[in-house]
Parts: sequence; C-alpha cells; structure tokens
Amino acid sequence: MAAENTFDDKAATWDQNPGHQQSTSIAAEALKGSGLLHPGSTAVLDLGCGTGLLAEKIADSLGALVGVDTSPGMIAAFQRKAEARGDGKLRCVLAELTGPESLTSSTPADGGAAVPEQYDLAISLMTFHHIQDIAGTLRLLKHHLKPGGSVAIFDLLATPASIRFHSPAHSHGLFHRGGFSLQEMEQHLTEAGYTAVEARAVGSLQKAAFDGEGEMLEFQLFMATATAG
Ligand SMILES: C[S@@+](CC[C@H](N)C(=O)[O-])C[C@H]1O[C@@H](n2cnc3c(N)ncnc32)[C@H](O)[C@@H]1O
Repeated sequence: MAAENTFDDKAATWDQNPGHQQSTSIAAEALKGSGLLHPGSTAVLDLGCGTGLLAEKIADSLGALVGVDTSPGMIAAFQRKAEARGDGKLRCVLAELTGPESLTSSTPADGGAAVPEQYDLAISLMTFHHIQDIAGTLRLLKHHLKPGGSVAIFDLLATPASIRFHSPAHSHGLFHRGGFSLQEMEQHLTEAGYTAVEARAVGSLQKAAFDGEGEMLEFQLFMATATAG
C-alpha cells in the first residue's frame, strides 16, 4: 500500500473539479460507444476508481462494477455513492494490485464477501500515469479478465502541456509521468500479451497549470483497448 497518498486530501472536492468532470464524460461516452458494455451483464473492474465518478456514469450500462484504489479517502467517497445507489451494482476495495491475490484477499469497503476474481472488462481512467510498473499492472489486469475479456485504458497523451502539468511543481506525493504516446501504450499492451490492440485520441480537456497563475492548459485524452487471450 502506498504510504503517502495525497489523493486522500483531494477526495472531498474531487467531483467539483471541471477537469475531472470533463475526463469522466469523455471516457463514459467512449465506453458506451465502444460495444464493450452490456446493460445487466458486463462485469467491470475499475483500476484507480477514485470517488466513483466514472462508475456512476456508466452504472446503468453494465452488470456490476468493482472499483479498486490505493486511497482510503477516495474509496470512502466511492462507498458513499455505492450505498446511496442501494442496488449493489457498485462495490469497491482499498488495495494496490501487486500480485494475483491483492484484489480478492482485501476486504471490500462494504464489509461483504470478497469481490470476484475475474471480469469481462477492466477499465482505468487517469491512473496509469501514476503507475510505475506498467508491464506488471497490465499482466495483473489480464489475470483478472475472463478469456476474451477486454481492457480499456484512458489517460493523457504525452504533449508539452501534460509534461509541464506533471513537472516538479505538481505536488502530488505519488509517482507520476507526463502521459503516454499512442504507440507507447500499444507497445505496452502487445508486450503484455494482449491482442486486438488499438489506441486513439478521444477528446480534450482543460486543467489549470500548477506553475502558472490560473493559466489553463489543454490536454488530450486517449483510449487504448485490447483483448485478453
Ligand atoms: C488522477 S486520479 C483518477 C481517479 C478517477 N479514475 C477519476 O478519473 O476521477 C488517480 C487515482 O488512482 C489512484 N491510484 C494511484 N496509484 C494507484 C495504484 N497503483 N493502484 C490503484 N489506484 C491507484 C489514486 O489514489 C487516485 O484515486
């Protein structure tokens, strides 16, 4: 578990940030148009689920979703939303995927039975740029996919703006990088053994620079999809 996680401080106001709302809307629309979600059936694992912004937006288009995150503050916010829905569709787990057992051996935030081990779809929004071991994480996600299951990763394209945003002025407490190129993400997925690998830009969003006086920077979000097995 990450010892220091400044996302805890951000959880309370996370959903009000227009940049977070923009990225969530872009990802939700892209997922709904991807053919990967089927109402009432698709089992989804959401890596770096945060407060559950994306989970809430796509909940009616899937069967069930399990969010996993390393931030207790984020998981507490997610769990409040899951309880408010009251239909049991959304569950979450405080865990870091460091091995095949990390997910199922962690107690879910609702205190209920362990979450399932395998899913139809693994998604992740704006989290991969915080992950150091990309290859290991992609292999673990593959472990959590049913044969023929899919992954859909959303993150920042590496541009001068994304690199500047993640400069040392970005006081985060966690590892971060300035995004990925489409080719880089496709290569990571291919090397991790996925097939039907495809990455494309899906939209742009604005965020305030940390090193400017309220200057707004424009970022490109990509979606990378691939099939396991
Ligand atoms: C930029 S936030 C995105 C949150 C959410 N997906 C959204 O878009 O609103 C990144 C999230 O990833 C979580 N995180 C960072 N490293 C992680 C890891 N190795 N495993 C799981 N979650 C992680 C953080 O705690 C944080 O909630």
